Amino acid sequence: MKQHSVSANFNQLFKQISPEEMCNDFNVFTLVGKVFPVITAGKENQSNSMTASGGGMGLLFKKPTTWCLLKADRYTLELIEKEQTYTMSYFPDEYREQVLFLGGKSGRDSEKMKEVVLTSVQTPSGDMSFKEAQLIIECKLTQITTPNLDDFYTQDAKNYLREAYKDVNNYRKYVFGEITHVWVKK
Ligand SMILES: Cc1cc2nc3c(=O)[nH]c(=O)nc-3n(C[C@H](O)[C@H](O)[C@H](O)COP(=O)(O)O)c2cc1C
Repeated sequence: MKQHSVSANFNQLFKQISPEEMCNDFNVFTLVGKVFPVITAGKENQSNSMTASGGGMGLLFKKPTTWCLLKADRYTLELIEKEQTYTMSYFPDEYREQVLFLGGKSGRDSEKMKEVVLTSVQTPSGDMSFKEAQLIIECKLTQITTPNLDDFYTQDAKNYLREAYKDVNNYRKYVFGEITHVWVKK
């Protein structure tokens, strides 16, 4: 981990930037579709992470906001609803294997948070992320919306949702979170 040693604390590793600065430094399509966010919810004694793809960020009701699509049965979604805060962490390519690992099995019935080769760290607000992250977005849950097929106009979207609704435990929910802090590696 070079200078980012496991013993360093959060403030030694990360500095805060604004959402606007983040968009100058990082391409949102690359973050969402190639780097993939690791979404972490819960507190120090019980946190859980999952990998996501899709979603985005922008202004919603004048607030900088992220959104993602999470299947209804995700354990991470359960913890997001419980705590109403979460982080979205983005990692350098060297940690790709671990990013994919967190998307490979559910923490509801596995010990993946103990098995993953990443170092948990608590933000000053008490949310959980990892020391190896390059970028951390902290969010406050603002909305969980279940999409309605009738509200979609393209055939592609309708097909996607029809597929997503086949299994009641499997449908996707849109999760919106106000960005409360953005942290980048020093
Ligand atoms: C690259 C990648 C992208 C993924 N994107 C999503 C996504 O956008 N939404 C989703 O619900 N699951 C997505 N998954 C699957 C979840 O990460 C996976 O089911 C995970 O085990 C859920 O963990 P949990 O039940 O502990 O929350 C993705 C997995 C991978 C590997």
